[in-house]
Amino acid sequence: MKRIGVLTSGGDAPGMNAAVRAVVRKAIFHNMEVYGIYRGYAGLIDGDIKELEVGSVGDIIHRGGTMLYSARCEEFKTIEGQLKGIEQLKKHGIEALVVIGGDGSYQGAKKLTEHGFPCIGVPGTIDNDIPGTDFTIGFDTALNTVIDAIDKIRDTATSHERTYVIEVMGRHAGDIALWAGLAGGAETILIPEAKDDMNEVIARLKRGSDRGKKHSIIVVAEGVGSGVEFGKKIQEETKFETRVSVLGHIQRGGSPTAFDRVLASRLGARAVELLLNGKGGRCVGIQSNELVDHDIIEALSRKHSLDHKMYDLSKELSI
Ligand code: F6P
Repeated sequence: MKRIGVLTSGGDAPGMNAAVRAVVRKAIFHNMEVYGIYRGYAGLIDGDIKELEVGSVGDIIHRGGTMLYSARCEEFKTIEGQLKGIEQLKKHGIEALVVIGGDGSYQGAKKLTEHGFPCIGVPGTIDNDIPGTDFTIGFDTALNTVIDAIDKIRDTATSHERTYVIEVMGRHAGDIALWAGLAGGAETILIPEAKDDMNEVIARLKRGSDRGKKHSIIVVAEGVGSGVEFGKKIQEETKFETRVSVLGHIQRGGSPTAFDRVLASRLGARAVELLLNGKGGRCVGIQSNELVDHDIIEALSRKHSLDHKMYDLSKELSI
């Protein structure tokens, strides 16, 4: 394989740049040429493609966002869009593609693979919801951003003796909420993977108050519902003064943590290694601290599963 392409797609994630850098440098080290596809699958369809050199990826390892830009592309969900993309790849002499992104990006890579074009998926999303890996690039950074916010909110919650509902991202997955809630000492964590009974949530808050607790932090994953609505309900039912913070896109930005930079470097390089060995249609990940790769079609037939033991632990520790 002489020439490969790389793109980032879907919601950006801190560490995507480090992954792009790893793909480019590893490939050039092994005498391959690398083409950057800008704006994800949208740029692929439009032919927004340029060669990347060693220097093109200098000074980006510490930067959030993605130098290749990103997009969500409806057209690529259609066969016509996918075939246009393959035409562009062929026109540029690109023989394989590394796709860095989340669920939607993996679906695109799967489609290209099914059309016979070799792709490697690299998990890049703050949601940590990709099958075949314990961690996705960007999750650790987002987690630390959320914990920083929870710690700050806790200060004001303590001073004013208030209840706080903090809504975090994660789309359909509760990983950000669970990990941040556990690390931030939240009294209650609401995640889509475990349907909590609202009456039980209220009862827990009241029990805490009866024991003399003056403030509470409740972390809600966006996949469960609106933090604002939960806040209203909690205030109505408990009469505790309640405030709501929706953290939003702040969770997607910022300089990647060392963990995310190292993970991105390892996974990006592994993706190129697979292509050097003539393997396409795979996705890379880290499981039990080992780099792994799986058939992308098979991996996508499974679902990422959240660590339910950790959820149980969070309940035991927040009595
Ligand atoms: O997938 C990453 C993510 O940030 C999700 O957590 C969130 O639901 C979604 O993207 C938001 O997407 P957008 O930036 O397109 O509004």
